[in-house]
Amino acid sequence: MRKILVLNPKGGCGKSTIATNIAGYLAINGQNVAIADFDPQKSSEDWLLKRQEHAPKITIASIKRGNITVPRKTDTVIIDTPAAIHGKRLADFVKTSETMVIPLLPSDIDMRAAERFIEELFSLKKLINRKIKLATVANRVREDTLSAAKLDYYLNQMKLPGGKKLPFITVLRNSQNYVKSAEKGLSIFEFAPAKTTYDREQWQPLMSWLMSNRSIPG
Ligand SMILES: Nc1ncnc2c1ncn2[C@@H]1O[C@H](COP(=O)(O)OP(=O)(O)OP(=O)(O)O)[C@@H](O)[C@H]1O
Ligand SMILES: [Mg+2]
Repeated sequence: MRKILVLNPKGGCGKSTIATNIAGYLAINGQNVAIADFDPQKSSEDWLLKRQEHAPKITIASIKRGNITVPRKTDTVIIDTPAAIHGKRLADFVKTSETMVIPLLPSDIDMRAAERFIEELFSLKKLINRKIKLATVANRVREDTLSAAKLDYYLNQMKLPGGKKLPFITVLRNSQNYVKSAEKGLSIFEFAPAKTTYDREQWQPLMSWLMSNRSIPG
């Protein structure tokens, strides 16, 4: 069973939005998917409770003392995390997953905070190098060029230890489609394709990465 962790200590950066949309995508592609929602706010669980009958089923994983239990046939568990995860809790989450998706908001303040978080993440060097593959996704990017240019600038500045570039996968625009899909317990992949064509295109690099061996430690 595969575990995909969605984490960034910054509140409101899109963890639950990205977790639920990954879950929706995998479910409509025939996988048995569960979501483990570690956030006491339970946004992902609420989304699942709103989910409509006709939509492919996604299970709520049970969490007891930090351990996840899911039905035996589960292919993938998406782990949604609360804000402000640091230190030992961060290390514990990183240890349990093979793949990590980090949503980033493109504002100055958020990018600085993300830089500090990524430094902390890389201080867990052994874990990061061997046990987990990670990718960042810029979320809620406004479609004006200024914000896109700034984002490029910051992403180029954020260097990993060893001088490698941040494994940046895609940009997701700010769109009411995400708000509407959250309200309905659906992913954007379960909305009318004509209304979400652009969003689906933006998701494609992330989903191809997640479906490939590149996102699984060798
Ligand atoms: N790309 C987007 N376009 C428009 N709205 C978005 C987008 N991504 C997220 N949102 C909205 O932003 C808000 C915060 O998103 P979300 O709940 O996914 O963040 P989070 O990181 O899980 O927050 P928390 O840290 O509180 O758990 C939600 O209302 C969500 O619908
Ligand atoms: Mg959340």
